[in-house]
Amino acid sequence: MLKKTAIAHPNIALVKYWGKRDERLNLPAVGSISITLADLWTETTVAYEEGRTADTLILNGAPARAEQTRRVSGFLDLVRDLTGTSRFAHVESRNNFPTGAGLASSASAFASLALAATRAPGLKLTSDRLSELARRGSGSAARSIFGGFVEMKMGTQPDGSDAVAMPLAEADFWDLTWLIIITTEQEKSTGSTDGMRQSEQTSPYYQQWIDTSPGDLDDMRTAILQRDFTRMGEIMEHSCLKMHALTLSSRPPLLYWNETTVAIMHAIQHLRREGVPVYYTIDAGPQVKALCPPEYADQITAKLEPLTGVKRIIRTKPGPPARIVGDTE
Ligand code: DP6
Repeated sequence: MLKKTAIAHPNIALVKYWGKRDERLNLPAVGSISITLADLWTETTVAYEEGRTADTLILNGAPARAEQTRRVSGFLDLVRDLTGTSRFAHVESRNNFPTGAGLASSASAFASLALAATRAPGLKLTSDRLSELARRGSGSAARSIFGGFVEMKMGTQPDGSDAVAMPLAEADFWDLTWLIIITTEQEKSTGSTDGMRQSEQTSPYYQQWIDTSPGDLDDMRTAILQRDFTRMGEIMEHSCLKMHALTLSSRPPLLYWNETTVAIMHAIQHLRREGVPVYYTIDAGPQVKALCPPEYADQITAKLEPLTGVKRIIRTKPGPPARIVGDTE
Protein backbone atom coordinates (compact mmCIF):
# COMPACT_ATOMS: atom_id res chain seq x y z
CA MET A 1 0.00 0.00 0.00
CA LEU A 2 1.24 3.50 -0.87
CA LYS A 3 0.44 5.52 2.24
CA LYS A 4 1.70 8.70 3.92
CA THR A 5 0.53 11.12 6.61
CA ALA A 6 1.30 14.83 6.57
CA ILE A 7 0.60 17.74 8.88
CA ALA A 8 0.15 21.35 7.80
CA HIS A 9 -0.87 24.45 9.70
CA PRO A 10 -3.37 27.14 8.66
CA ASN A 11 -2.12 30.65 8.05
CA ILE A 12 -3.51 34.14 8.50
CA ALA A 13 -2.94 36.68 5.74
CA LEU A 14 -1.53 40.07 6.75
CA VAL A 15 -1.93 41.30 3.16
CA LYS A 16 -4.96 39.55 1.71
CA TYR A 17 -5.47 37.40 -1.36
CA TRP A 18 -8.86 38.21 -2.93
CA GLY A 19 -9.47 37.72 -6.67
CA LYS A 20 -8.19 35.35 -9.35
CA ARG A 21 -6.56 35.97 -12.72
CA ASP A 22 -7.37 32.43 -13.84
CA GLU A 23 -10.00 30.28 -12.15
CA ARG A 24 -9.09 26.98 -13.80
CA LEU A 25 -5.46 27.09 -12.64
CA ASN A 26 -6.44 29.02 -9.52
CA LEU A 27 -4.01 31.87 -10.22
CA PRO A 28 -4.31 34.78 -7.79
CA ALA A 29 -4.93 38.32 -9.11
CA VAL A 30 -2.76 39.74 -6.28
CA GLY A 31 0.14 38.57 -4.14
CA SER A 32 -0.33 38.05 -0.39
CA ILE A 33 1.70 37.80 2.82
CA SER A 34 0.82 35.55 5.75
CA ILE A 35 1.95 34.03 9.02
CA THR A 36 1.67 30.24 9.41
CA LEU A 37 0.18 29.28 12.80
CA ALA A 38 1.74 27.04 15.45
CA ASP A 39 -0.99 25.34 17.47
CA LEU A 40 -3.67 24.69 14.85
CA TRP A 41 -3.20 21.87 12.37
CA THR A 42 -4.69 19.51 9.84
CA GLU A 43 -3.41 15.94 9.66
CA THR A 44 -4.09 14.12 6.40
CA THR A 45 -3.40 10.50 5.48
CA VAL A 46 -3.51 9.37 1.85
CA ALA A 47 -3.52 5.66 0.96
CA TYR A 48 -3.60 4.58 -2.69
CA GLU A 49 -5.11 1.13 -2.77
CA GLU A 50 -5.24 -1.35 -5.63
CA GLY A 51 -8.73 -2.44 -6.64
CA ARG A 52 -10.40 0.74 -5.37
CA THR A 53 -12.96 2.18 -7.84
CA ALA A 54 -13.22 5.74 -6.48
CA ASP A 55 -11.55 8.12 -4.04
CA THR A 56 -13.09 8.28 -0.57
CA LEU A 57 -12.76 11.01 2.04
CA ILE A 58 -13.25 10.90 5.80
CA LEU A 59 -13.31 14.37 7.34
CA ASN A 60 -13.01 14.75 11.11
CA GLY A 61 -14.05 11.10 11.58
CA ALA A 62 -17.16 11.11 9.34
CA PRO A 63 -17.71 10.56 5.58
CA ALA A 64 -17.32 13.91 3.80
CA ARG A 65 -20.08 15.61 1.81
CA ALA A 66 -20.22 14.78 -1.92
CA GLU A 67 -18.90 18.18 -3.02
CA GLN A 68 -15.97 17.95 -0.58
CA THR A 69 -15.06 14.49 -1.90
CA ARG A 70 -15.33 15.78 -5.49
CA ARG A 71 -12.96 18.67 -4.74
CA VAL A 72 -10.38 16.33 -3.18
CA SER A 73 -10.78 13.79 -5.97
CA GLY A 74 -10.22 16.50 -8.60
CA PHE A 75 -7.06 17.46 -6.75
CA LEU A 76 -5.89 13.82 -6.62
CA ASP A 77 -6.36 13.68 -10.42
CA LEU A 78 -3.63 16.35 -10.67
CA VAL A 79 -1.36 14.24 -8.49
CA ARG A 80 -2.15 11.11 -10.55
CA ASP A 81 -1.16 13.07 -13.69
CA LEU A 82 2.16 13.96 -12.04
CA THR A 83 2.97 10.48 -10.76
CA GLY A 84 1.52 8.42 -13.58
CA THR A 85 -0.41 6.25 -11.13
CA SER A 86 -4.03 5.37 -11.81
CA ARG A 87 -4.91 4.08 -8.34
CA PHE A 88 -7.69 5.67 -6.35
CA ALA A 89 -7.09 6.71 -2.77
CA HIS A 90 -8.65 6.63 0.66
CA VAL A 91 -8.07 9.98 2.38
CA GLU A 92 -8.57 10.75 6.07
CA SER A 93 -8.22 14.31 7.28
CA ARG A 94 -8.82 15.92 10.65
CA ASN A 95 -8.52 19.42 12.04
CA ASN A 96 -7.96 20.43 15.64
CA PHE A 97 -10.02 23.62 15.01
CA PRO A 98 -13.50 24.39 13.59
CA THR A 99 -13.85 23.78 9.84
CA GLY A 100 -15.23 26.40 7.47
CA ALA A 101 -15.66 29.28 9.91
CA GLY A 102 -13.18 31.71 8.41
CA LEU A 103 -10.14 29.98 9.86
CA ALA A 104 -8.63 29.05 6.50
CA SER A 105 -9.10 25.29 6.97
CA SER A 106 -8.70 24.86 3.20
CA ALA A 107 -5.11 26.14 3.53
CA SER A 108 -3.92 23.45 5.94
CA ALA A 109 -6.18 20.84 4.29
CA PHE A 110 -4.74 21.20 0.79
CA ALA A 111 -1.15 21.81 1.97
CA SER A 112 -1.22 18.55 3.97
CA LEU A 113 -3.05 16.75 1.15
CA ALA A 114 -0.51 17.93 -1.47
CA LEU A 115 2.37 16.67 0.65
CA ALA A 116 0.85 13.31 1.68
CA ALA A 117 -0.59 12.58 -1.80
CA THR A 118 2.74 13.13 -3.58
CA ARG A 119 4.95 11.39 -1.00
CA ALA A 120 2.73 8.29 -0.76
CA PRO A 121 3.76 7.10 -4.24
CA GLY A 122 7.34 8.30 -3.61
CA LEU A 123 7.30 11.64 -5.44
CA LYS A 124 9.48 14.25 -3.70
CA LEU A 125 8.64 17.68 -5.11
CA THR A 126 10.71 20.82 -4.43
CA SER A 127 8.91 23.24 -2.13
CA ASP A 128 8.19 25.52 -5.13
CA ARG A 129 6.43 22.74 -7.03
CA LEU A 130 4.64 21.57 -3.89
CA SER A 131 3.40 25.12 -3.27
CA GLU A 132 2.24 25.33 -6.91
CA LEU A 133 0.34 22.05 -6.53
CA ALA A 134 -1.22 23.09 -3.20
CA ARG A 135 -2.39 26.33 -4.86
CA ARG A 136 -4.49 24.28 -7.31
CA GLY A 137 -6.44 23.02 -4.28
CA SER A 138 -6.76 26.43 -2.59
CA GLY A 139 -4.82 29.65 -3.08
CA SER A 140 -4.00 30.11 0.60
CA ALA A 141 -2.73 26.49 0.79
CA ALA A 142 0.30 27.48 -1.30
CA ARG A 143 1.44 29.56 1.71
CA SER A 144 0.92 26.80 4.30
CA ILE A 145 3.70 24.71 2.71
CA PHE A 146 6.09 27.09 4.49
CA GLY A 147 6.41 28.09 8.15
CA GLY A 148 6.78 31.54 9.71
CA PHE A 149 6.35 34.64 7.53
CA VAL A 150 5.44 33.78 3.94
CA GLU A 151 4.86 35.68 0.70
CA MET A 152 2.70 34.34 -2.13
CA LYS A 153 3.66 35.73 -5.53
CA MET A 154 0.84 36.37 -7.99
CA GLY A 155 3.23 35.38 -10.80
CA THR A 156 3.08 36.38 -14.44
CA GLN A 157 3.37 33.03 -16.27
CA PRO A 158 0.13 31.81 -17.90
CA ASP A 159 0.85 28.25 -16.67
CA GLY A 160 1.10 29.42 -13.04
CA SER A 161 4.59 28.00 -12.46
CA ASP A 162 5.66 31.25 -10.73
CA ALA A 163 2.44 31.72 -8.75
CA VAL A 164 3.99 30.11 -5.69
CA ALA A 165 4.75 31.04 -2.10
CA MET A 166 8.20 31.63 -0.63
CA PRO A 167 9.44 32.06 2.94
CA LEU A 168 10.26 35.61 4.09
CA ALA A 169 11.40 34.73 7.63
CA GLU A 170 11.32 31.70 9.92
CA ALA A 171 8.76 31.35 12.72
CA ASP A 172 11.26 32.32 15.45
CA PHE A 173 12.33 35.49 13.60
CA TRP A 174 9.75 37.54 15.53
CA ASP A 175 7.92 36.57 18.70
CA LEU A 176 4.32 37.66 18.10
CA THR A 177 1.02 36.42 19.49
CA TRP A 178 -2.20 35.80 17.56
CA LEU A 179 -5.49 35.86 19.41
CA ILE A 180 -8.15 34.15 17.32
CA ILE A 181 -11.48 35.36 18.63
CA ILE A 182 -14.25 32.91 17.75
CA THR A 183 -17.66 34.54 17.43
CA THR A 184 -19.51 31.55 15.91
CA GLU A 185 -18.64 27.92 15.16
CA GLN A 186 -21.08 27.75 12.23
CA GLU A 187 -19.83 27.33 8.66
CA LYS A 188 -19.85 30.47 6.53
CA SER A 189 -22.52 30.95 3.84
CA THR A 190 -20.45 32.17 0.86
CA GLY A 191 -17.06 30.53 0.31
CA SER A 192 -13.98 32.46 -0.81
CA THR A 193 -14.05 31.28 -4.43
CA ASP A 194 -17.64 32.48 -5.01
CA GLY A 195 -17.06 35.65 -2.99
CA MET A 196 -14.00 36.54 -5.07
CA ARG A 197 -15.88 36.02 -8.33
CA GLN A 198 -18.72 38.22 -7.10
CA SER A 199 -16.29 41.01 -6.12
CA GLU A 200 -14.41 40.84 -9.39
CA GLN A 201 -17.57 40.99 -11.48
CA THR A 202 -19.50 43.62 -9.55
CA SER A 203 -17.44 45.76 -7.14
CA PRO A 204 -16.62 49.22 -8.53
CA TYR A 205 -13.44 49.12 -6.43
CA TYR A 206 -11.95 45.92 -7.82
CA GLN A 207 -9.44 47.62 -10.12
CA GLN A 208 -8.18 49.89 -7.30
CA TRP A 209 -7.73 46.78 -5.16
CA ILE A 210 -5.49 45.28 -7.85
CA ASP A 211 -3.61 48.53 -8.46
CA THR A 212 -2.82 49.24 -4.79
CA SER A 213 -1.71 45.69 -3.96
CA PRO A 214 2.02 45.91 -4.91
CA GLY A 215 2.49 48.93 -2.59
CA ASP A 216 0.90 47.07 0.36
CA LEU A 217 3.11 44.03 -0.28
CA ASP A 218 6.28 46.18 -0.41
CA ASP A 219 5.34 47.98 2.82
CA MET A 220 4.50 44.74 4.62
CA ARG A 221 7.70 43.00 3.52
CA THR A 222 9.72 45.95 4.88
CA ALA A 223 7.73 46.07 8.13
CA ILE A 224 8.40 42.37 8.74
CA LEU A 225 12.09 42.49 7.93
CA GLN A 226 12.52 45.57 10.18
CA ARG A 227 10.28 44.08 12.90
CA ASP A 228 8.26 47.31 12.81
CA PHE A 229 5.07 46.30 14.63
CA THR A 230 3.13 49.55 14.18
CA ARG A 231 3.75 49.64 10.45
CA MET A 232 2.84 45.96 10.15
CA GLY A 233 -0.38 46.43 12.10
CA GLU A 234 -1.47 49.48 10.12
CA ILE A 235 -0.99 47.78 6.74
CA MET A 236 -2.62 44.59 8.01
CA GLU A 237 -5.80 46.43 9.07
CA HIS A 238 -5.79 48.50 5.89
CA SER A 239 -5.54 45.40 3.66
CA CYS A 240 -8.31 43.68 5.63
CA LEU A 241 -10.68 46.65 5.49
CA LYS A 242 -9.94 47.18 1.81
CA MET A 243 -10.83 43.55 1.09
CA HIS A 244 -14.06 43.88 3.04
CA ALA A 245 -14.84 47.14 1.20
CA LEU A 246 -14.76 44.98 -1.95
CA THR A 247 -17.12 42.37 -0.57
CA LEU A 248 -19.46 45.05 0.85
CA SER A 249 -19.56 46.87 -2.49
CA SER A 250 -20.32 43.68 -4.46
CA ARG A 251 -23.79 42.96 -5.84
CA PRO A 252 -25.38 41.30 -4.01
CA PRO A 253 -23.26 42.55 -1.09
CA LEU A 254 -21.29 40.13 1.05
CA LEU A 255 -21.22 41.04 4.72
CA TYR A 256 -18.99 38.52 6.51
CA TRP A 257 -19.17 40.23 9.94
CA ASN A 258 -21.65 39.76 12.75
CA GLU A 259 -22.40 42.11 15.67
CA THR A 260 -19.62 40.63 17.75
CA THR A 261 -17.09 41.07 14.94
CA VAL A 262 -17.81 44.80 14.93
CA ALA A 263 -17.79 45.05 18.74
CA ILE A 264 -14.32 43.46 18.76
CA MET A 265 -13.06 45.88 16.09
CA HIS A 266 -14.18 48.80 18.29
CA ALA A 267 -12.67 47.25 21.42
CA ILE A 268 -9.31 46.82 19.67
CA GLN A 269 -9.34 50.45 18.50
CA HIS A 270 -10.14 51.48 22.06
CA LEU A 271 -7.26 49.40 23.45
CA ARG A 272 -4.93 51.08 20.98
CA ARG A 273 -6.04 54.52 22.10
CA GLU A 274 -5.05 53.42 25.62
CA GLY A 275 -1.56 52.61 24.35
CA VAL A 276 -1.89 48.83 23.85
CA PRO A 277 -0.19 47.65 20.63
CA VAL A 278 -2.82 45.41 18.98
CA TYR A 279 -4.24 45.25 15.45
CA TYR A 280 -6.90 43.05 13.85
CA THR A 281 -7.58 41.23 10.62
CA ILE A 282 -10.71 39.39 9.40
CA ASP A 283 -11.08 36.84 6.59
CA ALA A 284 -14.18 35.59 4.75
CA GLY A 285 -16.01 34.91 8.01
CA PRO A 286 -16.96 36.55 11.31
CA GLN A 287 -13.90 35.62 13.42
CA VAL A 288 -11.41 38.33 14.36
CA LYS A 289 -7.68 37.65 14.50
CA ALA A 290 -5.74 40.07 16.70
CA LEU A 291 -1.96 40.41 16.55
CA CYS A 292 0.14 41.72 19.44
CA PRO A 293 3.51 41.42 21.17
CA PRO A 294 3.24 38.44 23.62
CA GLU A 295 3.47 40.57 26.79
CA TYR A 296 0.13 42.26 25.96
CA ALA A 297 -1.86 39.08 25.22
CA ASP A 298 -3.31 38.65 28.76
CA GLN A 299 -4.50 42.26 28.98
CA ILE A 300 -6.14 42.08 25.53
CA THR A 301 -7.78 38.71 26.29
CA ALA A 302 -9.19 40.11 29.55
CA LYS A 303 -10.78 42.99 27.64
CA LEU A 304 -12.21 40.92 24.74
CA GLU A 305 -13.36 37.74 26.52
CA PRO A 306 -16.32 39.34 28.36
CA LEU A 307 -17.79 40.89 25.17
CA THR A 308 -21.24 39.52 24.31
CA GLY A 309 -20.97 36.88 21.59
CA VAL A 310 -17.31 35.97 22.10
CA LYS A 311 -17.31 32.15 22.25
CA ARG A 312 -13.63 31.55 22.95
CA ILE A 313 -10.18 32.88 22.19
CA ILE A 314 -7.44 30.68 20.77
CA ARG A 315 -3.91 31.89 21.46
CA THR A 316 -1.10 30.97 19.08
CA LYS A 317 2.08 32.22 17.41
CA PRO A 318 4.09 31.78 14.19
CA GLY A 319 4.50 28.07 13.42
CA PRO A 320 6.31 25.46 11.32
CA PRO A 321 6.08 24.32 7.68
CA ALA A 322 4.10 21.35 6.35
CA ARG A 323 5.81 18.01 7.03
CA ILE A 324 5.48 14.22 6.82
CA VAL A 325 4.77 12.51 10.16
CA GLY A 326 5.07 9.02 11.59
CA ASP A 327 6.19 5.83 9.96
CA THR A 328 3.38 4.83 7.64
CA GLU A 329 5.37 2.85 5.05
C1 DP6 B 1 -9.99 35.93 2.79
O1 DP6 B 1 -7.46 30.35 -0.36
O2 DP6 B 1 -9.78 30.02 0.58
O3 DP6 B 1 -8.69 34.10 3.57
O4 DP6 B 1 -8.17 29.83 -3.69
O5 DP6 B 1 -10.63 30.04 -3.79
O6 DP6 B 1 -9.59 28.33 -2.28
P1 DP6 B 1 -9.46 29.68 -2.93
O7 DP6 B 1 -9.49 30.77 -1.79
P2 DP6 B 1 -8.88 30.75 -0.33
O8 DP6 B 1 -9.01 32.32 -0.03
C2 DP6 B 1 -8.49 32.93 1.09
C3 DP6 B 1 -9.07 34.29 1.20
C4 DP6 B 1 -8.81 35.02 2.50
C5 DP6 B 1 -7.57 35.89 2.40
C6 DP6 B 1 -6.24 35.17 2.44
O9 DP6 B 1 -6.10 34.14 3.13
O10 DP6 B 1 -5.31 35.69 1.80
